[in-house]
Amino acid sequence: MRAILLGPPGAGKGTQAETIVKEFSIPHISTGDIFRQNIKQGTVLGKKAKEYMDQGLLVPDELTVELVKDRLLQDDCRNGFLLDGFPRTILQADALEDALKSMKQKLDFVVNIEVRKELLVERAVGRRVCSGCGQTYHMTFNKPKKEGICDNCGGELIQRKDDTEETVTKRINVYQEQTEPLIDYYTKKGIVINIDGEKPISEVGKDIVAKMRNK
Ligand code: AP5
Ligand code: MG
Ligand code: ZN
Repeated sequence: MRAILLGPPGAGKGTQAETIVKEFSIPHISTGDIFRQNIKQGTVLGKKAKEYMDQGLLVPDELTVELVKDRLLQDDCRNGFLLDGFPRTILQADALEDALKSMKQKLDFVVNIEVRKELLVERAVGRRVCSGCGQTYHMTFNKPKKEGICDNCGGELIQRKDDTEETVTKRINVYQEQTEPLIDYYTKKGIVINIDGEKPISEVGKDIVAKMRNK
């Protein structure tokens, strides 16, 4: 299974990725997570990416494309992968297509999670992430058992730096301008699965798996 998760900030890509990668036993590749890991470790890439991420802007394609190409060549991607947050521009999509062609592979699905703009800010601003294991929660929609503490590992829950109302709004605009054209790009290839992302988390997950299994 080779698939992409598409959808605006806060649509539920990371949340649904957990279900999909378990179901199909494939690695979850989130470019946002890779950049955040690099920021945490203070790498050169992390320092460069941070300048853009903190402003809600896309990290330049030349920093992003090579990173993903290298990742797809790793052993665990041999039987498939789930990309989350990549591609985000037409240039990235073309680069992915070329890379897969040279690996004699092709994409099976693009899962497009649809959520109205009005709901996205509340989702992102209320999100909390475990500083230990990365598990995602929401202050209203997906609460941890104990406030501020991760159910899995007991780690402290923190807010992402780009989850302020102002930066989320910027990210949504950037999505509409630079990433939304990819829906058309992949619809023309006949591989898009549209998903109503406004249902409760578990229902969205069931819908995605059902559609990926049936097609
Ligand atoms: P990235 O980390 O990919 O952020 P994003 O695309 O803005 O998406 P989010 O992670 O904010 O949302 P999500 O859809 O994963 O939602 P989640 O499941 O967490 O990218 C961050 C930055 O990195 C970018 O701005 C850019 O700078 C850079 N970057 C990354 N990739 C790049 C690329 N390819 N090129 C260039 N730059 C790149 O859910 C959100 C919240 O809602 C959670 O609290 C969750 O619990 C809750 N929730 C989820 N589903 C539901 C539901 N059904 N009902 C109620 N609540 C729900
Ligand atoms: Mg995410
Ligand atoms: Zn944790």
